[in-house]
Amino acid sequence: MTKWNEVMMDNYGTPGIELVRGEGIFLFDSFGRKYLDFLGGIATSLLGHAHPEIVSAVTKQISTLSHVSNLYAHPTVLQLAEKLTQMTGGGRVFFCNSGAEANEAAIKISRLTGKSRIIATDGAFHGRTMGALSLTGQPNKRAPFEQLLPGITHVPFGDLIAMKEALALGDVAMVIVEAIQGEAGVILPPPGYLLALRELTTRYGALLACDEVQGGMGRTGKWFSYQHEGVVPDIVTVAKGLGGGLPLCAIIAVTPAAQLFTPGSHGSTFGGNPTSCAAAIATISVIESAQLLESNYRLGSVLKDGLSTVDGIHAVRGIGLWIGLDLEDAPAVTKELQTLGVLVNAAGSQTIRIAPPFIVTESQISEFISLLGQAIRKVAS
Ligand SMILES: Cc1ncc(COP(=O)(O)O)c(C=O)c1O
Repeated sequence: MTKWNEVMMDNYGTPGIELVRGEGIFLFDSFGRKYLDFLGGIATSLLGHAHPEIVSAVTKQISTLSHVSNLYAHPTVLQLAEKLTQMTGGGRVFFCNSGAEANEAAIKISRLTGKSRIIATDGAFHGRTMGALSLTGQPNKRAPFEQLLPGITHVPFGDLIAMKEALALGDVAMVIVEAIQGEAGVILPPPGYLLALRELTTRYGALLACDEVQGGMGRTGKWFSYQHEGVVPDIVTVAKGLGGGLPLCAIIAVTPAAQLFTPGSHGSTFGGNPTSCAAAIATISVIESAQLLESNYRLGSVLKDGLSTVDGIHAVRGIGLWIGLDLEDAPAVTKELQTLGVLVNAAGSQTIRIAPPFIVTESQISEFISLLGQAIRKVAS
């Protein structure tokens, strides 16, 4: 950690452990200690670590063709784009490398509508680059970097009256929401919220963008969390789990948003590179063949039922393998869990977020619940 402080910038603070190896749901640190990974690289390592199908697909691809840029086509990018458009029910794809970049692309598409305003929601997290940060509804993250993009209005998440008032002011190119807010602590809006947003955005001629960077790729038991309400957005942004642990993001837009980029409007050197696309195809194929969407939904209920029996947990929220739980002193409980060999994330002072890999078993869920109870008792004592 002395070396970390010497050579790394301080934006992440100093990590408590150094990880050197992963296998399935387990991670191992440089002292050989084993950790049950209930965070999955922040909702990213969907199939855990060193999954044989991903290792094989990446090894094959990297030894055949690892990078070509977007001046040329290659079969893996086309296969993945086709798969993603099947999941969304149509559209066209632009590939890039991170969630923030996907949302930057959404901002650029929205500008090409000829309108200039964007409405986002309080509490939302859309990334750290200047455009994505401008959308992020957390003033403490935005403040040090003002001036950000002009023309962005934040309204309370779930508040349709405020949304309608902001739309009625006119010139709105896009409304962007997380169907379930992840960084904010896995916060679900009131039922019907997305359906109403779809109706309002259509009425006011604005694009509806769903940021599925964290909630997408099957974590909630459907490919995208907005699909629980049966809406069809104009733009979907995906990253994190898409590449099965490799950097990859996609923005999928349906007509007319899909037609707005023309040659020269946007680009990314690495976006959709063959190696990351091969990892994504392998990840999707395992999710489908092992029917992990169905099992994620079921395991999520097992997890929620178990968590609701633990003393000291005040609230449990979420769908599938994406859960926020409220308790006293989340950072201290997170630290104690790490000592007990379990990795989770404190999404705030009173909220822990869990996003285990989809390969988690019922017995690992029981073990997690028992260790969490132990950590809460230790912190309270
Ligand atoms: C909903 C959402 N959007 C965007 C991002 C930004 O993704 P990245 O860190 O890959 O830029 C995140 C990251 O946590 C996220 O949760």
